[in-house]
Amino acid sequence: MSVTDEIKDRIDIVDLISESVELRRSGKTYSGFCPFHANTRTPSFVVFPDSQSWHCFGECNEGGDVFNFVMKKNGWDFPEALRRLAERTGVQLKPLTPQQEEEQEEHEHLRKLLEDAVTFYRHNLYNTEPGKIALEYLYGRKLTDETIEAFGLGYAPNSWDAATTYFKSKNYTEEELLEAGLASERDGGGIYDRFRQRMMIPIRDHRERMVGFGARTLEPDGVPKYLNSPQTALFDKSSILYGLDKARKAIRAEDQVVIVEGYMGVIAPHQHGFTNVVATMGTALTDDHLQRLQRYTKRIILAMDSDAAGAKAALRGLQVAREALDKTTDLVFDARGLLRREARIRADLRVATLPPGMDPDDVVNHNPEELRQILANARPVVVHVMEVLTEGRNLEDPKTKTEIASQVLPLINDIPNAIERDTYLQRLARTLEVDERTLFSFRPPRASRPRRKGAPRPSSLPPEEQTAHPHSSKRSGDIYEAHCVGILLRHPELLYQIDRQLGVDGLARLTEKDFYNADYQVLVKLAREALDQNETEPISYVLNNLPMIFMDLVDELLTHTTELDAVVDKVLEDVLRALLSLRRRHVLSNNSHLRYMLESEQENGDYKATEYQTIIIKNLADLQKIDKAMKRYTSRTAALEMR
Ligand code: UTP
Ligand code: MN
Repeated sequence: MSVTDEIKDRIDIVDLISESVELRRSGKTYSGFCPFHANTRTPSFVVFPDSQSWHCFGECNEGGDVFNFVMKKNGWDFPEALRRLAERTGVQLKPLTPQQEEEQEEHEHLRKLLEDAVTFYRHNLYNTEPGKIALEYLYGRKLTDETIEAFGLGYAPNSWDAATTYFKSKNYTEEELLEAGLASERDGGGIYDRFRQRMMIPIRDHRERMVGFGARTLEPDGVPKYLNSPQTALFDKSSILYGLDKARKAIRAEDQVVIVEGYMGVIAPHQHGFTNVVATMGTALTDDHLQRLQRYTKRIILAMDSDAAGAKAALRGLQVAREALDKTTDLVFDARGLLRREARIRADLRVATLPPGMDPDDVVNHNPEELRQILANARPVVVHVMEVLTEGRNLEDPKTKTEIASQVLPLINDIPNAIERDTYLQRLARTLEVDERTLFSFRPPRASRPRRKGAPRPSSLPPEEQTAHPHSSKRSGDIYEAHCVGILLRHPELLYQIDRQLGVDGLARLTEKDFYNADYQVLVKLAREALDQNETEPISYVLNNLPMIFMDLVDELLTHTTELDAVVDKVLEDVLRALLSLRRRHVLSNNSHLRYMLESEQENGDYKATEYQTIIIKNLADLQKIDKAMKRYTSRTAALEMR
């Protein structure tokens, strides 16, 4: 039994969740109000004792096991949840090797030294004469005592040996002072204080453990402005995010992180209630940073300088982000009609641009509302990159167009939402003044689209699928979908007749699942809703409740269906034929996928095989019904032919 299984074995999920959520028994399950989203009306949070899992069927629509629960509840990452639950249940985690144990002890000792250093520098800030200058400096930067205390800020005296002498008197060795990065080695031997006459900023890891210091000069022209701890056993500049120890709970709660540059860029916003802000340590965003962050949230805002360097840095960060972030794989057709898997980033990356010459601390001190606005106006990276790349360029030049398209298209391609993807494609087409279809068929060279280690390879699928899959090129493949949706928008009341007819043929009623396009799905739902509202004029309900972004699409769909209005009987027949064609295609393509998966599972001897077989058989039964129903509509109406 694995450690996690053992822990689960010893904890009852109902007991654990009951500690923070009031649960009521209902049959075999327990339910209550979800602790992760604001709700008072429906107890959408359900705990399943049998499978020892939970699920929020409301806004969150997510669930998991005990580990997920305590992680989400307390802002822990998995190792932390494991440690805490192991402690709680008395399960022994794998014992360390003697060598690891020794290393751990050394690290503990160094952390203790750094912890003592925080106290030492704080003492110097508040209780010494020269410390007053530093304190005045902090007040001058509008920091309150509460903030200074919360961030553990301090003052390193203007001396070569104040710190080293003090710590030696506390029985720390010179070697330890060097290893902790508090002292430097003298050429002729011996050590001296690394930090002198500086304001001290303790740096902690996400578990609040001390790892190092940032130290700002108090001289107007002091160089360097910031002196950080050197790379040590504890301090790794490229993976630490400053402020994460204080921000991580808010990041989870708000499901969003703001990444800025600079210590003050974190501290000042925190003082004003922006507690989901962290900073990189003067380096670009790295893979390590993103791997850590995405345990807490997938929504990332990069707050950037407005200057060119900032924009460049953002682009670099994005490149890293594209490679590092979790991807989901979709099946798509490429321009040549070949099916492959395509990775799409499951994170929402945005860029907020700060006013020229201002840091987040300047903005928030000037007016907190302004920072709120700037963050709220953060734009999707695609838009940002498009602007950065096109600024000052001659867009008449076909070479420039190609170059920009090849940089922006991969970003557009990363977007998981089809509607958004299309929107940006259109925007790019407009910006570059090229036809959208040209862009659609344009693919940047493979080399510029690095694949992440471990990501699934584009698989070659059975050949028949290459023509059968409903994802086939949007413009040609969606004719049936567009047709059905267009008619339904105009005549939602047809849904009754459609459902009845489908029932007669032993088929399921029409749902949004009949459509592959997310935008069509939304529209079909809306049409159904219009009927349920019992409106005398469902079409006006549809139009009144239509999200703005669908206006153009609906306009187009309705234009294409005007000629159908006259003869309702024909329209019903027409929409049924289109729907059945859609379903037919879906069943065929699903089955060929299933067979493909079945084969590979059988090779691996996986138990899922029978599950796949059952679905295939069910699909085949459906196919018979579909074909039988289709025969009834063999008469040709003008509608589809006219297009
Ligand atoms: P900035 O020079 O923009 O400083 O460097 P800042 O954050 O605005 O500092 P204040 O407001 O003048 O106090 C941004 C970040 O780059 C790193 C630091 O992390 C800093 O916060 N940096 C900068 C260094 O590590 N060393 C330096 O010498 C300068
Ligand atoms: Mn600044």
